[in-house]
Amino acid sequence: MSTLIDGKAQATRLREEIGRQVSRLRQHELVTPGLAVILVGEDPASQVYVRNKATQAREAGMSSFEYRLADSVPQTKLLDLIERLNRDPEVHGILVQLPLPPQVDESRVIQAIHPDKDIDGFHPINVGNIATGGHGMAPCTPLGCLMLLKHQLGDLSGKHAVVLGRSNIVGKPMASLLLQKHCTVTVAHSRTRQLEEVCCQADILVAAAGRTRLVKGDWIKPGATVIDVGINRIEADGRMRLVGDVDFDSAREVAGALTPVPGGVGPMTIACLLLNTLEATCRQHRIPFPDNIMSLAWGGTSSETT
Ligand code: GUN
Repeated sequence: MSTLIDGKAQATRLREEIGRQVSRLRQHELVTPGLAVILVGEDPASQVYVRNKATQAREAGMSSFEYRLADSVPQTKLLDLIERLNRDPEVHGILVQLPLPPQVDESRVIQAIHPDKDIDGFHPINVGNIATGGHGMAPCTPLGCLMLLKHQLGDLSGKHAVVLGRSNIVGKPMASLLLQKHCTVTVAHSRTRQLEEVCCQADILVAAAGRTRLVKGDWIKPGATVIDVGINRIEADGRMRLVGDVDFDSAREVAGALTPVPGGVGPMTIACLLLNTLEATCRQHRIPFPDNIMSLAWGGTSSETT
């Protein structure tokens, strides 16, 4: 039986520390971190994510600004809003919930967000900085996965990490972050040959394929650490349930440690969004980023990039 990696508990600890740092900033620097979240359309899953992000930002003592735009919104209107938020000194982080409707060019929107306020880490400048091992805002889901891995395993150096999925939001930045931590990284995807054999070689397996229960127990090397990024809604026994990209029951017999769904990666994603917002605020006001939060987040030093 594998160890369950408790993402909910780790995220709670991280959010509590972020909350303490936010009150310190408000008291001593007279700065309140501000997060602006934009939702276009009425996708039910996106509505839940956006509501959770805004609620948790407020609970951490941040200002939360929410913008809900119609599914039919013209691209120029969205770009105008982003431009206004870029100039607003009360807003330190801007998030546009993806996906966007077809009339809106996603990459145009991402590039419109000022890189210093891009707390999603999707702007090409931040993507480039992370890929070249420099300092940039890292996307929240892979950052959360990396924190769970560091907390579970300590030093990741030399481990073979297989990232299943090559999305811009998770797979590609996950591979960059694992490389920074000196892993040997394989990125596998829907066209990878002998996918099962590739996964079997992983000391660390990050499943972000977006396919319900794709990874079975016999795809996992005994003792491996498995991070399940999948959030798939299925109907079972007449009610909706969330399941991951990993077949939990069979994986649990083989893996050394495994994240559950829900309660694994999901809570860490939002905690990392708050962490990025805090970091963006500190940077915009030239306030040093507190050391204790880095060690809580990383379980050690933050920069091991050589
Ligand atoms: N849609 C799914 N995941 C994300 C995310 O991390 N950020 C944004 N902006 N949209 C998403």
